[in-house]
Amino acid sequence: MIARQALCRAVPRSSVALQATLSARGVKTWANVPAGPPDPILGVTEAFKADKDSRKINLGVGAYRDENGKPYVLPSVRKAEEAVIAKKGDKEYLPITGYADFTKNAAILAYGKDSLPVKENRIAITQSISGTGALRIGGAFLQRHYPHSKSIYLPSPTWGNHIPIFKDSGLEVKHYAYYDKKTVGLDFDGMINDIKAAPNKSIILLHACAHNPTGVDPTKDQWKKIAQVIKEKEHFTFFDMAYQGFASGDVDGDAFAPRYFVEQGLEIILSQSFAKNMGLYGERVGAFSVVCSSPEEKARVDSQIKIIVRPLYSNPPVHGARIAGSILADPALYDEWLKEVKGMADRIIGMRSDLKKLLEESGSKHNWDHIVSQIGMFAFLGISPEVVEKLKNEHHVYLTKDGRISVAGVTPHNIKHLAESLHKATS
Ligand SMILES: Cc1ncc(COP(=O)(O)O)c(C=O)c1O
Repeated sequence: MIARQALCRAVPRSSVALQATLSARGVKTWANVPAGPPDPILGVTEAFKADKDSRKINLGVGAYRDENGKPYVLPSVRKAEEAVIAKKGDKEYLPITGYADFTKNAAILAYGKDSLPVKENRIAITQSISGTGALRIGGAFLQRHYPHSKSIYLPSPTWGNHIPIFKDSGLEVKHYAYYDKKTVGLDFDGMINDIKAAPNKSIILLHACAHNPTGVDPTKDQWKKIAQVIKEKEHFTFFDMAYQGFASGDVDGDAFAPRYFVEQGLEIILSQSFAKNMGLYGERVGAFSVVCSSPEEKARVDSQIKIIVRPLYSNPPVHGARIAGSILADPALYDEWLKEVKGMADRIIGMRSDLKKLLEESGSKHNWDHIVSQIGMFAFLGISPEVVEKLKNEHHVYLTKDGRISVAGVTPHNIKHLAESLHKATS
């Protein structure tokens, strides 16, 4: 002990040595780290798990479930994965921007094979850690290289994670009107007015389809008007496309907005996720792309994307990209996948109309039209937090406080209980 104390005195006190001494004295390094709030969606799942009632329903989590409420692995994904495994590929690192056979076809899926920037080889694209990672790379890219603004306008409301993603990217987060509580629909005039009121050359984030959390999308005509205003104001658009194909069952129809903007000559950036449309949630497969004005500009943008990605995670994971890449590259598997995406979308659309019908049959006097007019994984019920509490406490139905349900979690087995509960809780 004496020898150790003498040694401590003899050597300069580096911070490591100091920390060791402080720890030995029982000083708690992280004593001032405050407890953060729990994730609102994971909180719903935890409460659901703790509930022992057999009628319980979890409509909080945004993941597809089959008719029996079970997670679903698409048969095309199983086949592609088996083929990937049979190839016995190596486990070498991918390049920084990922698996090129995947990203090349991801760009075609998003922009369309006849899109000019695709044909003219002027889309810079990188594989990403699913949609979240694509948004985060996009945020960093804008923060470093967008010359006109360091703010981003998000719809109100928006996917909860957008706000910390862009704040962590160093952008200031602002909002534009989107949802009208009174009509439980799109506040189109409010949206247009706010986009017009933003300073010229602002960055506007748009959900390409299946807006989360509201399920409310602009019509094609409304998209055209939005594009016109964005063009007039010289704004810059960041499209978040997390649900291509999953919204309507048609991958081309769901990509209408970004494709239309590009046709109008607008240079967009785009985030893609393959979590929902291929059910590759945990494999974390996505892409981030930038429409450039020339192949030469694309090469420069590409080099800067690499500079952003390298210190973040070096290079992306290989397995999921091989699966998605095989599906996109193989015409037979691709057709099979298209049918499966449509199957998932149709099941959700079917549950929407059944739910509305059951609510009407139960005698509910409320107008539930929005359940069928909304699109994608979520339905925004337009109910108060008190009704959400009642659903949880009296009926064992779990959803987020904002009144959003994941329609992907509604099945022929639980829909009756859901409709009855919703009717009782809103009567
Ligand atoms: C609007 C929106 N963007 C992006 C994502 C990204 O998801 P992931 O990172 O799982 O691809 C989601 C997922 O729920 C989403 O709803």
